[in-house]
Amino acid sequence: MENVKIKDKTFKVYLNNSQIQTEIQRLAGEINARCAGKKVTFLPVLSGSFLFFADLIKHIKVEHEIYFVKYKSYSGTDSTGIVDAMLPPPASIKGTTAIIVEDIVDTGTTLKTIVPDVQKSGPDAVKICSLLLKPDKYDFAFSVDFTGFEIENDFVVGYGLDYDEAGRNLRHIYKLTNS
Ligand code: IMP
Repeated sequence: MENVKIKDKTFKVYLNNSQIQTEIQRLAGEINARCAGKKVTFLPVLSGSFLFFADLIKHIKVEHEIYFVKYKSYSGTDSTGIVDAMLPPPASIKGTTAIIVEDIVDTGTTLKTIVPDVQKSGPDAVKICSLLLKPDKYDFAFSVDFTGFEIENDFVVGYGLDYDEAGRNLRHIYKLTNS
């Protein structure tokens, strides 16, 4: 498969769509098994998780509702951990098992804001599902319950993930080349 150029950078295929789909089916099976008999509320985090969640939900068999949430880091201040809730979770998650769905978890800074916000609405349990996790960078006491791929500290793009808001539509996940 060919490299792609996005703006000033070149990316090569890292995880192809068929690998992604196989992993999503496995992840959905794990959620179905571990959440059997529970009322689940999925909270996919916009924008990055839109493709991942669209594929994941097709394999979900447990009773559920879906509410998209949106959080944004203040530009230029990512390292301070200040994250703005643009579309917070609804009160209706009370008494359900809330599953936050992320495309990628890096340091965990975003989750440090989302998890307490979700807890405030009174769910029975809060769980995290992420297609990608960079375990070496993750620095949050709350563990990721459902992980697709653990990856190295490479910058990746495609399948919902962006580079400067571009590349979200790509079928595969690509990583940055050195060239
Ligand atoms: P965290 O708050 O450090 O866990 O970072 C989470 C957010 O950073 C993700 O939701 C992405 O928006 C962005 N991010 C982190 N690593 C990557 C990457 O490799 N590619 C694209 N976006 C990334």
